[in-house]
This record gives sequence, C-alpha cells and structure tokens, in this order.
Amino acid sequence: MFDIAVLPGDGVGPEVLNEGLKVLKAASEKAGFQYKLKHYDFGGERYLKTKETLPPGALDELKQFDAIYLGAIGHPGVKPGILEKEILLAIRFGLDQYINLRPVKLYPNVWTPLKDKGPEHIDFVVVRENTEDLYVGIGGFFKKGTKDEIAMQEMIATRKGVERCIRYAFEFTKKRAKRNHLYMCDKANVLTYAHDLWTRVFAEVGKEYPGIKQDHAYVDAITMWFVKNPEWFDVIVVSNMFGDIITDLGAMIQGGLGIAASGNINPEGVSMFEPIHGSAPKYAGKNVINPLAAISAVAMMLEYLGEVKGAALIENAIIKALSEKHIKNLSAGGELSTSQIGDMITKFVKESK
Ligand code: IPM
Ligand code: MN
Repeated sequence: MFDIAVLPGDGVGPEVLNEGLKVLKAASEKAGFQYKLKHYDFGGERYLKTKETLPPGALDELKQFDAIYLGAIGHPGVKPGILEKEILLAIRFGLDQYINLRPVKLYPNVWTPLKDKGPEHIDFVVVRENTEDLYVGIGGFFKKGTKDEIAMQEMIATRKGVERCIRYAFEFTKKRAKRNHLYMCDKANVLTYAHDLWTRVFAEVGKEYPGIKQDHAYVDAITMWFVKNPEWFDVIVVSNMFGDIITDLGAMIQGGLGIAASGNINPEGVSMFEPIHGSAPKYAGKNVINPLAAISAVAMMLEYLGEVKGAALIENAIIKALSEKHIKNLSAGGELSTSQIGDMITKFVKESK
C-alpha cells in the first residue's frame, strides 16, 4: 500500500493531476498494487484566504508519506517568490530532496524544433542538484531603495551537497546502463570557488567509476550542444540554478513543457513528482492543457516506489498515444482536451496486455 500526498496547487495543477490520478487508478487495477491518497490545498488560493503557505507541522506530516504528487505552484494574485519559496522550495529543502531528476526524451512522432533530430538523438537525463546554490536564499540588501543600494545573493556549494549529488549521478548512469557516459555541466572558468569544488569532487568520485566515461561542458556551451548535438548526452549532472535553466531548454527539444516530468528525489526519504511546467493561470479551468507531463510524473513516481510494472504500463500507454498519432499536438489548446487525453491514456493502460 502506497501512501501518496496529493498537492494540486495552483492554476492548471488540479486539472492535470486529476488526469494523472485517473491513470494511476487504472495502473493500480492492472498491475495489482494499492494506494491511498490524501489531498492538501497548499497554494495561492489558500494563501490569499489565510496568509498561510505551509501550515505548521506540514513538512513533518509530508515526511510520513511514501511519495508526494505535486501539480504546480504560482498564482497571479501573489507576488512572485512567496509561494515558490515557501511551498515548493520549502518542501524540496525541508524534505532534503537533493536531486531533481529531469529526463529529456523525445517520443516517436513528437514534434521537436530541432531539424533532422529524432527519438534516437534525444534521450538523456539531467541530474540537477536541488538543495543548494543560489536557491538557498542567503543574501540581503544594504541601503535598499537608495542610490547606494547593494543586493547580494550567495551561491552556496557544500562538500556534502556536491558529493552526494555527483555520487547519485554516477550511480544513476551506471544503473541506466545506456551509454555509461556522465557529463558535468558547470562554469568552472568563472566560478572559480564553487565550481572548483564541483570539478574536484567530480574527478575524485569519478575515480570510483572507471567504467563510466567522464566529460565536462561549460553551461553556455551545453546550451549550444543541446540544440546542435543532443545525441552526445546520456546523463548530465549540474548545479541547481544552471540545472533549472538547461532543463527548460531540454524540455523544448523533447517537444515542450507539455511532456516534461520531473522527480525531486531524496533517495533516503520522501520524494516528490511533478510536471516541469508551471501553473499556467491563463489556461486554468479551461480543460485545454495537455496533462501528459503530469501523467508521466505518475510513471516516474511508480518507478521510484518500485512499482515498475505500473510505471511501464503508463509509459507504454503514452508512447502508444504518441506513436500512433492519437495525440498530434502537445501544446495547450490542441485538438484534444485535458480530460480527453487523460481518458485516452487511461483506456490504453486498461487495454494493455
Ligand atoms: C522548476 C521551477 C522552480 C525552480 C520555480 C518555480 C521555483 O522553475 O521547478 O524548474 O526554479 O526550481
Ligand atoms: Mn524551472
């Protein structure tokens, strides 16, 4: 029995999660596993009503689950930064989900903006550090609002945080056993302290993995290679901020934010799965957003729970829908509605052998 916390959040979050949960139900019946859901209403609406982001005790409560399924956080009525920091980042940090796993995989018949590239060229995974770097929020203002103002925001890299992320990436590359090739993406030519640490730890940990080919690329250059030679990549390990940026580019080459899912992983604790896309408030409540990213996040969640059969059922149903061209357009407002896509994937899961 899996205990799953469901956090639909804001905007289109509730709609896409609804479809993901339909698919989860079908997968559980087919694969024969059981689960229990508990919904939480954390997000912009609750904040506007109560001034509360995460209520006291929420993090401790979330730690009791086997996994968390999250929709999207971000509300047009709330100043940017509040909900992101106090809900999304608070969970990532509070539950020590130190890996943000972001597969970049082009499925058959999905349109990519890259000319001459197909599924055989675009299939890699970004292992993004998820608890440090510019995201920790250490900094402040001095003389705010004056002509002499100083604003500082510190880039934090700890030996422990960098090492556990790099170690995870090596293990992941080994387990994936695809091309046994790990790239580190950094900016060590400028960030001569923080990324010097990354470079040293990568070399040091790398010695324990002689079977894995090791390379590094600067973050500016990697944005070029993603576009020109995505087939070079198998697994990429990267610090938090650069990882945030390059995975939006990654999502675009795999067909857009409509298909990109991610896992915030604490290998020793509770992990959280979410679509990479945001709350997209302009599409909220219209039944037009494509829920595949949220559905794909369910597959990732099941895989992490060890329910590989259920995960494979969902992954295969998505591939069937795309490769047989049942879904032609992954953008919002395609010819199929949110619920039609969810129903189709549910049906394919039910019909699978
Ligand atoms: C993401 C998002 C978040 C991030 C925001 C919403 C805080 O962009 O999951 O990539 O920067 O990590
Ligand atoms: Mn992002």
